Amino acid sequence: MALSVTASLLFALITAYSLISLLTTTLPPNTKPPPPTPSQPPLTLSPSHTFKLALFSDLHYGEQESSWGIDQDANSTRLLHHILSAENPDLAVLNGDLITGENTFRHNSSAYVHRIVAPMVDTQTPWASTYGNHDSKANLRREDMLRVERGYGALSYTRTTAGLEGITNYYLLIYRPGRRKGRPVGVLWFFDSRGGGSYGGGSGPADEEDDIPNWVGPGTARWFRDEASALRARYGGVLLPSVAFVHIPPTVFLAAQRRGIDPALFPGVNEDVPVAAQGTGREDGGFVDVLREERIRGGLHSVFVGHDHGNAWCALWPGDGEDETGGRGPFLCFGRHTGYGGYGDWTRGSRIVRLRFGDEKGDGSADEMEVETWVRMEGGQVVTRVMLNQTYGRDRYPTANGEFHE
Ligand SMILES: *[C@@H]1O[C@H](CO)[C@@H](O)[C@H](O)[C@H]1NC(C)=O
Ligand SMILES: *[C@@H]1O[C@H](CO)[C@@H](O)[C@H](O)[C@H]1NC(C)=O
Ligand SMILES: *[C@@H]1O[C@H](CO)[C@@H](O)[C@H](O)[C@H]1NC(C)=O
Repeated sequence: MALSVTASLLFALITAYSLISLLTTTLPPNTKPPPPTPSQPPLTLSPSHTFKLALFSDLHYGEQESSWGIDQDANSTRLLHHILSAENPDLAVLNGDLITGENTFRHNSSAYVHRIVAPMVDTQTPWASTYGNHDSKANLRREDMLRVERGYGALSYTRTTAGLEGITNYYLLIYRPGRRKGRPVGVLWFFDSRGGGSYGGGSGPADEEDDIPNWVGPGTARWFRDEASALRARYGGVLLPSVAFVHIPPTVFLAAQRRGIDPALFPGVNEDVPVAAQGTGREDGGFVDVLREERIRGGLHSVFVGHDHGNAWCALWPGDGEDETGGRGPFLCFGRHTGYGGYGDWTRGSRIVRLRFGDEKGDGSADEMEVETWVRMEGGQVVTRVMLNQTYGRDRYPTANGEFHE
């Protein structure tokens, strides 16, 4: 009895502490993200050493409640149910533009999060989010979306790191089953590319302006570099394989597209030309530098973005694959437009990313991670299944119209 009272007191204290760290904005930069709530299980590999992610890109809930918006959201929800039951992912990633903030009402704008996550709650699928440029508008605040998400306790892995530009900057660790105390096997990084408009700006949706910078901030880029080396140091200097998620493509995606997206080598629609990328040129330079460095120093395998609904390819870092020196940067992948909201009528789907790890090595050396990815369409087909391995960019895939079916 006394024990359980002590335990619940401790739990209450820890909860209060996490809440306070969430709400405090005066913490110095580089403060560690709040720990998962005590009831939140660590992300772990399946018995077959895999970890499967389903990317839900650009859902754009909350458009035109007075007309077609309601049907549209019902369609998106149907699609989420379909993907979750067909793929049974270990984690869903909501990769930005969850809501079309310029269409929502101030009194309930963040309540759309409840509708969005309902399919994950039904199937008990954990999720993690990045926020996009439509998630900050005159009537909608990222902070409020995060608060709604945190209300889901154990299922929502979305975090924030105090002192950085934006809200959804954090990382999650993946463990081998039963190894919570030991070295993680991999890392998932999430970055906030910001953009959109300030809360309370303008007098109505029509005259609001996008006044928030739309790139990953330099402070966040420094945090990424520092935190990644701190993680390596904490786990014996061993490289930890990782993948990263951010809503707006860094400018390196535009450079990759300019080099050419040959559909036989880089299958997937390529119809948003040029790529709408972060900033207007070099504002995301700090972030792009760390992405490249982390490929070499830290095992950052690939970067997954949304924002451009008409692009769904995976490319090489510009310059990679042109000689035999091996990879210089991570693979660059678009998700697939998932929501019925937002521009474009490309058939909706979800990019699935399967990480596969080898057996644990006794000598403490790095785990090897293999990444396979495909797009699960709402009609049930699977398209553009590729292996992001050493010969990606030279392997030829049987494409027709930029896609191939199985
Ligand atoms: C919803 O999906 C149905 C069936 O695919 C389609 O006919 C309808 O146009 C969609 N509605 C909207 C608003 O997207
Ligand atoms: C928000 O309120 C409006 C009415 O003002 C309603 O039409 C809409 O369905 C509400 N949205 C949510 C997510 O509750
Ligand atoms: C990479 O994957 C492709 C497709 O599965 C395969 O054909 C190729 O041999 C693989 N390359 C390496 C180096 O394993």
